[in-house]
Amino acid sequence: MPVIVDNLTYTYGKGTLSRQVLKGVSFQANDGEVLIITGPSGSGKTTMLTIIGALRPFAQGRVEIHGVDLKGLDTRGLLDIRKRIGFVFQKHNLLKSLTVYENVEASLHGLPESSEETNRPRAHAMLRAVGLEGRGHGYPDAMSGGEQQRVAVARALVRLPDLIIADEPTASLDAASGRLVMAAMRDLATKLGCVVMIATHDERVFDIADRRLHMNDGRLEQVG
Ligand SMILES: Nc1ncnc2c1ncn2[C@@H]1O[C@H](COP(=O)(O)OP(=O)(O)O)[C@@H](O)[C@H]1O
Ligand SMILES: [Mg+2]
Repeated sequence: MPVIVDNLTYTYGKGTLSRQVLKGVSFQANDGEVLIITGPSGSGKTTMLTIIGALRPFAQGRVEIHGVDLKGLDTRGLLDIRKRIGFVFQKHNLLKSLTVYENVEASLHGLPESSEETNRPRAHAMLRAVGLEGRGHGYPDAMSGGEQQRVAVARALVRLPDLIIADEPTASLDAASGRLVMAAMRDLATKLGCVVMIATHDERVFDIADRRLHMNDGRLEQVG
């Protein structure tokens, strides 16, 4: 089921210090679609993605994910919908005390199908997809920033989410790693029919998307 955003408006702060950051954003993303969101720094990309990801409550407009209206949800409902979303942020928050395998597998814990026997092979396959086969027993601290970012991508994708939200996922990656990461997300969208939304400035990866949307001062328009 698609992601529908209708007339989403968002303001930080109150009174004279308030600042309207999203000014009536509307778009729809269909199953299997990869959307790239570009736009200058401060234009509202991250704010929009955190609202769609059920990480930030909002008051004006409508966001519907796979048939669920985010506005009607309580804390428990938001938690449930977040379980179906894979997040990739600039800051990856890997756990230093866990191995690479364990970091990726942690994302599977709590899923109904989670099991000792199947979690490791799933983690292994996803690490291979991002070019890190054979690195599972190491620790994040022994990896480069780009490798750590790829582990974070594997962690987000391994649970096979319905929606993937990635905020500047290739910012710290070289060209080859950036393509691997984008290809892994593209692949999942095509195979599983999930929706992928990626905020990025990285022109090298634009061609992987189905559509590009451009954010300008809180307004979103389609490019090309
Ligand atoms: N927590 C916050 N409180 C107040 N203003 C914020 C907050 N987060 C972001 N902003 C402001 O909202 C605007 C949009 O930010 P953001 O969504 O991060 O844009 P982008 O991701 O496109 O760079 C910026 O002007 C930023 O300073
Ligand atoms: Mg941002």
